[in-house]
Amino acid sequence: MHLRVLYCFLLVGTVAVFCKQNKGHVSVVLLGATGDLAKKYLWQGLFQLYLNEVNSGHSFSFHGAALTPAEKAEPLLFEALKSLSCPEDVPPDRCALVKDQFLKLTRYRQLKTSENYTALHQDILTSLAEEGLHEAGRLFYLSVPPFAYADIAQNINGSCRPPPGAWLRVVLEKPFGHDYESAEKLAGVMQTFFREEEIYRVDHYLGKQTVEQILPFRRRHQKFLDPIWNKQHVERVEIVMKETVDAKGRTSFYEEYGVIRDVIQNHLTEILTYVAMEVPRNLSNSDEVLRAKLELLDSLRAPEHSSAVIGQYQNYLAQVREEMEKNHNYFTNTPTFAGVLIYIDNTRWEGVPFLLVSGKDLDERTSYARVVFKDNAFCVHKQSKEETIKNSCQPKQIIFHIGNGALNFPAVLVTKSLFKPSLPYSQWQEASDVPGISFFGQPISDYFVHRPVQERDAYTALISNIYRGKKGSFVTTKNLLASWRFWTRLLENLNNETPRIYPGGEETITLLDFVIERGGLRFVSKEGLEVMGMDQNTNSFASAQSIFLGNPMVSNWAEPLIQQLAQDIQTAAEEAVKNRGIFHLALSGGSSPIALFHRLYKHHFGFPWKHTHLWMVDERCVPFTDTDSNFGSLERHLLQHVRIPYVNIHPMPVHKNQRLCDEEDKGTEEYALEISALLTNSSFDLVLLGLGNDGHTASIFPGSQDGITGDKLVVLSESPLKPTHRMSLSLPLINKAQKVAVLVLGKGKHDIITLISRAENKPVRWPIFGVKPNSGQLVWYVDYDAMFR
Ligand SMILES: *[C@@H]1O[C@H](CO)[C@@H](O)[C@H](O)[C@H]1NC(C)=O
Ligand SMILES: *[C@@H]1O[C@H](CO)[C@@H](O)[C@H](O)[C@H]1NC(C)=O
Ligand SMILES: *[C@@H]1O[C@H](CO)[C@@H](O)[C@H](O)[C@H]1NC(C)=O
Ligand SMILES: *[C@@H]1O[C@H](CO)[C@@H](O)[C@H](O)[C@H]1NC(C)=O
Repeated sequence: MHLRVLYCFLLVGTVAVFCKQNKGHVSVVLLGATGDLAKKYLWQGLFQLYLNEVNSGHSFSFHGAALTPAEKAEPLLFEALKSLSCPEDVPPDRCALVKDQFLKLTRYRQLKTSENYTALHQDILTSLAEEGLHEAGRLFYLSVPPFAYADIAQNINGSCRPPPGAWLRVVLEKPFGHDYESAEKLAGVMQTFFREEEIYRVDHYLGKQTVEQILPFRRRHQKFLDPIWNKQHVERVEIVMKETVDAKGRTSFYEEYGVIRDVIQNHLTEILTYVAMEVPRNLSNSDEVLRAKLELLDSLRAPEHSSAVIGQYQNYLAQVREEMEKNHNYFTNTPTFAGVLIYIDNTRWEGVPFLLVSGKDLDERTSYARVVFKDNAFCVHKQSKEETIKNSCQPKQIIFHIGNGALNFPAVLVTKSLFKPSLPYSQWQEASDVPGISFFGQPISDYFVHRPVQERDAYTALISNIYRGKKGSFVTTKNLLASWRFWTRLLENLNNETPRIYPGGEETITLLDFVIERGGLRFVSKEGLEVMGMDQNTNSFASAQSIFLGNPMVSNWAEPLIQQLAQDIQTAAEEAVKNRGIFHLALSGGSSPIALFHRLYKHHFGFPWKHTHLWMVDERCVPFTDTDSNFGSLERHLLQHVRIPYVNIHPMPVHKNQRLCDEEDKGTEEYALEISALLTNSSFDLVLLGLGNDGHTASIFPGSQDGITGDKLVVLSESPLKPTHRMSLSLPLINKAQKVAVLVLGKGKHDIITLISRAENKPVRWPIFGVKPNSGQLVWYVDYDAMFR
């Protein structure tokens, strides 16, 4: 720790100049100094920082740190530093000089024990005192796995805080948790040691040149964009990151994360906020930027079951088995591809689809955000080539091209039919050497194309922003949790979803193409059943008809199974209507029946909805507008799409007197009375049930006091899962039904199916055993995934 003051005159080479007044010393500590990220980007970023700031009046020292003793780590660190380079515009002799200085200012430190941290602190203080410098700040860059954060944080806070007056900045790398709960926990730990303004969470996409440019671009072209950046004019927004590489070599990480946690929750969501948020008045004000971002994140509409399509490249399973030493009984639902549909509930974006798409082992590597405008003009006069520029019949789009892809450089593209952009010319220029390609359906000559004058790496920009204390390009705790709130919900929805298997690379062809349909997404092509060894052409159901627990069982792959159940329900409905003019159907909540609802409204146009009464098997004690509400889900997935008289719809009265499921409100009695009044002998024509992993059915859980036996028709119950309070039909009431169908779907249900096939017939332990229709029929509908896995 010496030689630091030399920097002032060495800098300019032959001419010695006096230092500007020293503005204080900055110590940079890079933990994980010999890791991959450090070697690839961080040292280069720190060197670039030094190169830019060496004249700023601050003096610097750099400490590369890791757990390893110096003898072992120093050679590795030296290796990493050898390849540092300067941008093209720096003359070679200056570059060599500054690099030499940088190396002299850089030391390796073992940071393992709290004594090591104390020693670092002492060394910094001592050498500053010797050189008569005061301390400006300390920057700790944690390029280490998150499990190491807590220890390091404690050591920094406990023995390495700079003295009052100097700043502390602690930089964290993702992953920041893998769902809301873990992110909140990790954030909580950090907050016990650091103040919010001291924490810098890096999302390196925020340092990409094109991404950085989105807000300034929107501000700069406000005059053109204000009238069209909204639901009236924007058709859809696509935010895409496609990769050609697969997960080989890192499957143990990937198994836990999958594509949504790995890149969509963070990178793509950050881009989404920049495209969609309100542009704050002062872009240099980080607080304003972060607040506007948070507002946008808070207005994302809660995702639904159908908000995503997921896939998994074919080799993934074999790679996982090999790398994680799993045997052939191991299966995984981890998605390596996802397309997600997001709606934003504000007046600007209401109804505009935002598509977030990413995947591994795809046909090309590219990433971009693309805003497609509506085509709402009809041009009567035929178009000539010259006219196309201002012609309102040309497609209109703006593309923030982040990198790779056909263009192979970062760029902002605006179709000429929109307006001519002007970017800050010190940093961006009109691209001259554009390949003569077609780009998103238009010849590239139809666009104004701007590219950075000089390409630079994201980390260089971010490290500079950390040094300058510009928090706007980092992820705050509030924003992180707001993002996880949305994504955790989606991930939960996808829990039992089986990804579509795709061959990978060019061979995938159209298998992953998807469309937006009724507020959700679905793959265009039919499930590749042949992948699973089924003949797609036989239209007859290969349904296995057998006996399960003494009752008939229908089993098949999920899709044909649902088709059969839907058909069976329609048959029951027609029969009931023919005999008595009315059909009473009780439906369960949860995710399994959603596919059935879709099947019913999309294919059963002859269903006698007019004569059907819909009842709820169970309901969660939440308002109907809550996304957890079973009725809410029924409303979205079925009722909106069919013509059923309002008076035939019977939601459970969970919300009365402005409170939820209070016994005094007698909601259960009210529902029971309604049933007795309308149903002969309180007997439903058909009750649809599901089966929980703990053996529960309806909302009657193991150990329930009420609802398994007894006289009550409708009961309040408690679930071990949130939301914990429920209302449910009792099993004795269900047993009065003419027909009871139990629908069980997905690999996730395999264990419970196996278990109850062997378990003792005890309804208190496994409520599903309490389903024994008195004179009606019980039929199981179990898909192959649940049966055989
Ligand atoms: C770090 O601390 C350990 C235990 O106190 C000590 O053995 C080691 O020498 C220290 N390393 C350095 C570089 O001071
Ligand atoms: C952080 O450090 C301060 C001062 O050294 C100390 O008082 C405080 O207890 C530390 N915080 C935690 C959570 O350890
Ligand atoms: C914008 O914000 C920056 C940083 O907070 C501040 O220094 C600057 O004065 C603000 N500019 C205006 C016009 O308010
Ligand atoms: C209703 O119950 C009574 C008495 O148990 C029985 O006689 C009658 O057939 C039942 N009606 C129907 C429609 O099931």
